Amino acid sequence: MCGIVGYIGNKQAYPIIINGLKRLEYRGYDSAGIALFDGKKIQLSKTKGKVVDLEARVAEEIETKGSVGIGHTRWATHGIPNDVNSHPHCSNSGDLVLIHNGIIENYASLKTELINRGYTFKSDTDTEVLVNLIEEIKKQEDVKLGKAVQIALNQVVGAYAIALFDIKKPNELVVAKLGSPLAIGIGEDEFFVASDASPFIEFTKDAIYLEDEEMAIIRLGREVRVRKIKNDKLVNANIQKLKLNLEQIEKGGYDHFMLKEIYEQPTVIKDTYRGRLLANKGIIKLGGLDDNISRFTNADRIIIIACGTSWHAGLVAEYIFEEWTRIPVEVEYASEFRYRNPIITEKDIVIAISQSGETADTLAAIKLAKQRGAFVYGICNVVGSTISRETHSGSYTHAGPEIGVASTKAFTTQITVLTMMALEIGRVKGAIAQSDYMLHLRELELIPGHVEAALKSNEKIEEIAAVFKNAKNFLYLGRGVNFPVALEGALKLKEISYIHAEGYPAAEMKHGPIALIDDQMPVVVVAINCNHYGKVVSNIEEIKARSGKIIAVVTEGDTEVAALADYVMEVPDTPETLTPLLTTIPLQLLSYHIAVMLDKNVDQPRNLAKSVTVE
Ligand code: G6P
Repeated sequence: MCGIVGYIGNKQAYPIIINGLKRLEYRGYDSAGIALFDGKKIQLSKTKGKVVDLEARVAEEIETKGSVGIGHTRWATHGIPNDVNSHPHCSNSGDLVLIHNGIIENYASLKTELINRGYTFKSDTDTEVLVNLIEEIKKQEDVKLGKAVQIALNQVVGAYAIALFDIKKPNELVVAKLGSPLAIGIGEDEFFVASDASPFIEFTKDAIYLEDEEMAIIRLGREVRVRKIKNDKLVNANIQKLKLNLEQIEKGGYDHFMLKEIYEQPTVIKDTYRGRLLANKGIIKLGGLDDNISRFTNADRIIIIACGTSWHAGLVAEYIFEEWTRIPVEVEYASEFRYRNPIITEKDIVIAISQSGETADTLAAIKLAKQRGAFVYGICNVVGSTISRETHSGSYTHAGPEIGVASTKAFTTQITVLTMMALEIGRVKGAIAQSDYMLHLRELELIPGHVEAALKSNEKIEEIAAVFKNAKNFLYLGRGVNFPVALEGALKLKEISYIHAEGYPAAEMKHGPIALIDDQMPVVVVAINCNHYGKVVSNIEEIKARSGKIIAVVTEGDTEVAALADYVMEVPDTPETLTPLLTTIPLQLLSYHIAVMLDKNVDQPRNLAKSVTVE
């Protein structure tokens, strides 16, 4: 994790780097630091805390002059979050300054070797080892900075996106990538470096995304030279035109990114099916799927791998795919899949789901599946991300940048893509009746309007949040395709309000969680009008009999559950398979309001990060 930003050019580097770090705080926010070169000496400031804390520290201790600099916002891996462990880290001579996102796994042995050669270390970080290793190689081999970086990176094991400069050659930044993302923005007489393009979007739309095992030497007045770290070969780097705009990464009048992103769902669900779903013609067009449709229709099995919220989207897909395609589906945590010895055959299809496209465990699971001959299909939100490039084919969600750490719109757009895939595979395979197929196409087109209607309950949900905000525990129940929604609802609450919450299949409640129910226990039940309605009503009765408090998500106009529940949150009627796209909405709002009322940092919850690029 961690966010890195660098600048070299003719402007003042400080405001660019500070604003850039604020945009990258979703990647980590336990400490931050900046190093600027003012032409004479290095101005370095670091602190535990967020980027605003860094700004305050900078105001006290350094001059902010200089048109070259690097900055970092951290999610600690090696060494606790404190001022000393914060990046940037300097080499022993003070000449080299480095920021790093990732982990150097063999740092301990490298450190011992450097200590034997007389190096000393101030921090507990692997990064300080790397910057001194580069310094030592530069000295011993008498090579330029770029070459020293290359030799050093061939000695390290791990993952990295790094940026560094030498105060003796301040017109040059050196960057490299393996496993963690790194984008280079190319302006006029200026260059930007960042973990994603958001820090430089208002300055340039031209960017190079480094591939794994590539490094670049960025020198003022020259073209960016990209090389392979392993064999030094020059790479013809592709300059991409960015589509991102500033509005997409700002709060747009909302108090939090999370709320903005919840409210964006009608639009981004539509963006995700726009041009792909032609309901009146009965057509679904997904380029990546169409090109490989026979692989899917002939597949023996689909294995879905993902982490976190994306894993919940995978669980929803299991129900939908099995229903419409009749292909057996297994859903696996990427972190478990990669470390067991999974049986994978060439007739298996692996679908990897990842908002960021950078999650380390998902990436490793993809590599394993590919090695064993499976065809791997990616569903990612971030265009050009590592997972989108590592997979054989795939479909993007079009959720736009998701900045709130708790995932919302990524989840519903992932389900939108997975729903279209299942419908199309089912149609080609002949596993879904044509009338059913047509019905779901038409109903999917109505979902954005239904989400808007569900969002209208916001004030009512806020009132419910006020009643339950001090509860110590919550139970979330759902059945069938809404069981994963219960898991996701519980995860949202845990993530941002730090209230313990558990998601459970409603019927399974009897086998354990029922023991927890008393008059202090709010139970959120997804009880919409569907096949299991009667069964869920019975589950609600069981909770009532034990004095539990029921907050139910119901279909508009419901009277039966409404009569039993303490509170209801309504969503419009839609076919059961599509209900997760709606039932999720009130649960997102409920957790949001509880966290706000508890005065928690909704967009940057403690200990979490948006994109987990370490295992
Ligand atoms: C982190 C985030 C979650 C996300 C998970 C998987 O834990 O905080 O919101 O669901 O990673 O991320 P991915 O980018 O692979 O979907």
